[in-house]
Amino acid sequence: MKNILIYGASGHGKMIADIVSKTNEYNLVGFVDSFKPNNLEIYNTKIVGDLDSLPKLIAKFDVDGIVIGIGDNEMRLRAYYNIIKVAPKIEFISVVHPSAILAEHVFIPDGTVVMAGAIINADAKIGKFCVLNTKASLGHDSIMSDFSSLSSGATVAGNVKIGFCSSICLSASVSQGLIIGDHTIIGGASLVLKSIKSKKLAFGVPINTIKNRSLDTFLKDLNHHNANKLIKK
Ligand SMILES: CC(C)(COP(=O)(O)OP(=O)(O)OC[C@H]1O[C@@H](n2cnc3c(N)ncnc32)[C@H](O)[C@@H]1OP(=O)(O)O)[C@@H](O)C(=O)NCCC(=O)NCCS
Repeated sequence: MKNILIYGASGHGKMIADIVSKTNEYNLVGFVDSFKPNNLEIYNTKIVGDLDSLPKLIAKFDVDGIVIGIGDNEMRLRAYYNIIKVAPKIEFISVVHPSAILAEHVFIPDGTVVMAGAIINADAKIGKFCVLNTKASLGHDSIMSDFSSLSSGATVAGNVKIGFCSSICLSASVSQGLIIGDHTIIGGASLVLKSIKSKKLAFGVPINTIKNRSLDTFLKDLNHHNANKLIKK
């Protein structure tokens, strides 16, 4: 059984620990967290170190892989970037809760996390490092780009494209055939009936408020094209 670490000892990380324990596919050796004390026990598993100590931890615990336990897309992207700087050879693990319902042939790539009760329909395509949170559903033929997310209860119809690092928040609904741009956030409980461009924060039922989002230098430099080069194939 492969030894793995969870990067981020938050509630999201704890949910991942629960999936790892239920699926019995990996041996969880610890959490890595740069903001919480070492040896703090979370869900019966200790924090064993921080980002700087990651190379040593990999050697010490004979670690094969890591799951990024961070729900926020942009923070997860930064974490990915930081991890590969100190541990370029580490494998990124995907985890799928046993209660998730996946259509046949749906593939869950590296780093993606599928929580309890999520539903992924026929021919939907999921990117790397995505999160489909509790009871989220993704319609047939829809696409989630790398580092995008569906929060708990989000409902996405068929043939929708969700852009790089974009999130559909808690219980929002997206109608069929629409395109959500990159780095866009659809606010909780919103109803999306038309496509939304990149770098927007949009909410309302149906969407009635669209604000521009400004990205910091790190995110500006790491546009989808650059990120594609960065993400291991
Ligand atoms: C995306 C989100 C965080 C933006 O919230 P925000 O940063 O407060 O947005 P703003 O500061 O621009 O909000 C300004 C106003 O819009 C309102 N607003 C924000 N999001 C809203 C939404 N989804 N629906 C209706 N009104 C909303 C705020 O209440 C505020 O109103 P006020 O000025 O009258 O007080 C929020 O919409 C959201 O979706 N939260 C849920 C996050 C989530 O999914 N968490 C679960 C993780 S599993």
